[in-house]
Amino acid sequence: MDISFNRVSYIYQQGTPFEHRALKDISFSLNKGEWLAIVGHTGSGKSTLLQHLNGLRQPTEGEVKVGDFHLSKKNRPKDMKQLRKHVGVVFQYPEHQLFEETVQKDLLFGPKNFGIDESEFETRVHNALAAVGLHEDVLERSPFELSGGQKRRVAIAGVLVTDPQILVLDEPTAGLDPMGQKEIMDMFYHLHQTKGRTTVSVTHDMEMAFTYADRIIVLENGQKLIEGTPHELTQQETLLQQAKLDLPERISFVNKWNQRNSSQLDETMPISELAQKISQELKEIKDQ
Ligand SMILES: Nc1ncnc2c1ncn2[C@@H]1O[C@H](COP(=O)(O)OP(=O)(O)OP(=O)(O)O)[C@@H](O)[C@H]1O
Ligand SMILES: [Mg+2]
Repeated sequence: MDISFNRVSYIYQQGTPFEHRALKDISFSLNKGEWLAIVGHTGSGKSTLLQHLNGLRQPTEGEVKVGDFHLSKKNRPKDMKQLRKHVGVVFQYPEHQLFEETVQKDLLFGPKNFGIDESEFETRVHNALAAVGLHEDVLERSPFELSGGQKRRVAIAGVLVTDPQILVLDEPTAGLDPMGQKEIMDMFYHLHQTKGRTTVSVTHDMEMAFTYADRIIVLENGQKLIEGTPHELTQQETLLQQAKLDLPERISFVNKWNQRNSSQLDETMPISELAQKISQELKEIKDQ
């Protein structure tokens, strides 16, 4: 499913003294199968933007299109359930939404709600657990007696079990240790690649955006400050600083090296190759 935002603005608590314009005139489009990362400082509007993708919020101005579903101030899709079936959202700290007595019941909440045929339940639960790397032993346990990392995985499995075409991830690895973060992101990347899913992820972590996304949008104070490929963003260090974001250290280093030396490094090289090239260059300089 393709996604487009056409001049979207969103105002919280409009018409009250607490009125706040959280999104300002945002436009972009995303093709099926692409991965878009939204990055921005805290409060820049990332979660508000994501919440438009499954109709949790409707634009105050402008229009959002997700496949054949159109959302604007006046237009709310009649079949919101269908939209939500196609767009799986992993919210910030998704484990806070676990509520059933057993993991099994929690995982079946979505399929029941979306009217998926009962004959598919077992296979779907099996596949979702396998995708997040959990053993079926957890099914009869209470989600509340699992570890933090396991709870997060159950919550993610609860989204995958409906097999959404679009995955929307709001800081899905917040609070996990570095190994857990990489495992979860690699899992999403695998799902993205093998099933041709469209993925929209939100992160503070530029390294993560650069590793997984085809395209990055930088939000600042509700506005789109930059949109480009990771490579295009490497040349936008000053604008990124304005948005209180840093380039990944590796890229910042390559930029500095390339400004000061005639031999040029390529930021897409793996770290080991970069190290080898740098040591070669340094040796040549020393021998001159
Ligand atoms: N329910 C609300 N009522 C009023 N203002 C809100 C509400 N929710 C969010 N805001 C404001 O809208 C702006 C954008 O919030 P949003 O949650 O989208 O930011 P974010 O980029 O996701 O931040 P974070 O990185 O901290 O999660 C913030 O200034 C926030 O204070
Ligand atoms: Mg947020």
